[in-house]
Amino acid sequence: MMEADYDEFEADLDFPVDLPERPRRNRKGPGIRRMVRETILTPADFIWPAFVHDGKDDRMPIGAMPGCFRLSPKALLEEAREAVRAGVPAIALFPAISDKKKDSIATESTNPDGLLQTTVKMLKDALPDLVVITDVAMDPYSSDGHDGIVRDGKIINDETLEILAMMAVSQAEAGADMVAPSDMMDGRVGYIRAALDEEGFSETSILAYSVKYASAFYGPFRDALDSHPRAGDKKTYQMDPANAREALREVLLDVEEGADMVMVKPALPYLDVILRVKQEVDLPVAAYHVSGEYSMLKAAGERGWLDHQAVMMESHLAIKRAGADVILTYNAIEMARLLGA
Ligand code: PBG
Repeated sequence: MMEADYDEFEADLDFPVDLPERPRRNRKGPGIRRMVRETILTPADFIWPAFVHDGKDDRMPIGAMPGCFRLSPKALLEEAREAVRAGVPAIALFPAISDKKKDSIATESTNPDGLLQTTVKMLKDALPDLVVITDVAMDPYSSDGHDGIVRDGKIINDETLEILAMMAVSQAEAGADMVAPSDMMDGRVGYIRAALDEEGFSETSILAYSVKYASAFYGPFRDALDSHPRAGDKKTYQMDPANAREALREVLLDVEEGADMVMVKPALPYLDVILRVKQEVDLPVAAYHVSGEYSMLKAAGERGWLDHQAVMMESHLAIKRAGADVILTYNAIEMARLLGA
């Protein structure tokens, strides 16, 4: 390094520089930075998506999601208690169903003694204040790995609605506080709302996956549930990542059909969409920081390429700053602990 000649450097400058605005004044110390901070994360911002299975292992690691597990109901309850202790208000449940229980019409999804239903009951009995959210879509139960009925290689919209409605009613019967249709069939929010009301579940809320893109960031999740589509892709129902105006169309339809909250998914690559949705509707907006987003940060952290805790915090902050009122995140418990500390 060269010896710096500071005296000479200073002598060349014209002091004082006349700057009426100096934004750095509002950053000059931690106290001021806290005062002017526009976005504050709290444990109440998070929904914890969790995988439950009926396999032998209490905690079966998910290869592409280091730090996440397929949990037995017993282990799930332990983790859920930790979530509540850390201040996380809600859990979103995803069941891993064994292949032999899958069929083309997702019969297992309405089994009152099925894995999902019994898990919901267990959670509500043990932790009545924990908001339990269940996913409404055929894919975990479908031998085709699609969110709707497959006929001649096509995903059939209207017949699928009936299955989704029965699934939602079955989840409500088990005690779910909110059902979350993630299937992207047209008209499903209204259809599910009508079915719930008809069966006496007018208090069961709907968290609509309104803007769900056909995203490659779901890869690790499909590994976790073994729910990859057996043929084709999901592009005839999930949205084209190129479209943002269409997102508003989807959101407005779901609002009209009776959604209580709307969601944008994935989150980080779609912050512009979160912002536009937030500007358009009065309902709470959720964003799903999906499996691939989680895994990218985790993997880079494990290699020492990024400071995991710092990028995790920054990512969640960015999602909230863009307009998300709640964030579905696999980091929910860890985030809540850090924020609560
Ligand atoms: C299925 C569903 C998916 C996710 C949530 N619900 C996957 C898919 O649509 O293929 C993805 C979540 C994630 O990647 O974390 N209906």
